[in-house]
Amino acid sequence: MELIIAPDSRAIATIVADAIAALLDRKPDAVLGVATGSSPLAIYDELATRHAAGEISLARARAFMLDEYVGLAAEHPQRYRNVIETEFAGRVDIDPANVKGPDGLAADIPAACAAYEQAIVDAGGVDLQILGIGTDGHIAFNEPGSSLASRTRIKTLTVQTRQDNARFFDDDLEQVPTHCLTQGLATIMSARHLVLVATGLAKAEAVHHMVEGSVSAMWPATILQHHPHATVLVDEAAASRL
Ligand code: GLP
Repeated sequence: MELIIAPDSRAIATIVADAIAALLDRKPDAVLGVATGSSPLAIYDELATRHAAGEISLARARAFMLDEYVGLAAEHPQRYRNVIETEFAGRVDIDPANVKGPDGLAADIPAACAAYEQAIVDAGGVDLQILGIGTDGHIAFNEPGSSLASRTRIKTLTVQTRQDNARFFDDDLEQVPTHCLTQGLATIMSARHLVLVATGLAKAEAVHHMVEGSVSAMWPATILQHHPHATVLVDEAAASRL
C-alpha cells in the first residue's frame, strides 16, 4: 500500500486527477470506478476543471458506481445515480449510457446484482477505482462484518452510517433508506488500481486500522492491504493516528 499525506483535499485531488489523466492518455476508453460521499468531490471538481480547459476527455471512458440506495425514487436527488450525474458525469464529456450503477429499483434484486457483476467483467474490469472510507472503516457500503470475499449484493445499512448520511436527507433519519446495493469487497479488489481518499479527524481511527491494523472483516478497508496497487491519500488530520 502506498500512503501519501498531502496538505488538503485540493492537493489530494490534483494527485488523483494526474493519475486519471495519465490513465486516459494511455487508455482513452478506461474504466473508472466512481464513489459518492463528500471525499471524492474535490476530485470531480478537478476533473471538471481540466475538462473545461480542454486538458482531458472522457468521451470514450466508462464508469461504474460502487453502490446505490434501495428504493429511492428515480428522480430523488440523493439517489446515487443522480448524485454521480450532478457531481461528476454531467460536468465532463462521458457518455451517460456508459455510466452504470447497481439498480436499486430492480424487482429482482439478486438478478440485478449478478447482472452488475457481469457488466463490470464485460467492460474488462475497472482500471482505477476511487474510494472513500466510512468512520467505521466501511468501503462502498460494506459495513463491518462484511465478507472479505463478497460480491455485489443487498446490505442493511448500520444506524451509524444512516446517521452519518442523514445530513443529505434534511437531518431526518427516517428518510434515510435502510438498505443498499453495494459492490462487494472482492468486487472492489478486482479493480487494477485502488485510490482511497480520506480527510479530517473523523476518519483518523478508520485510517489507522486500514493502514496499521490486522486485516479483518470488522474493519473492511483493511482488505486494501492485500491489493497489489492501492494508493491511500490522506490529509494530516486523517493521518493523525498513524
Ligand atoms: C457512504 C458511501 C461510501 C463513502 C462514505 C464516506 O457510506 N457509500 O462510499 O466512502 O459514505 O462518505 P464521506 O466521504 O462523505 O465521508
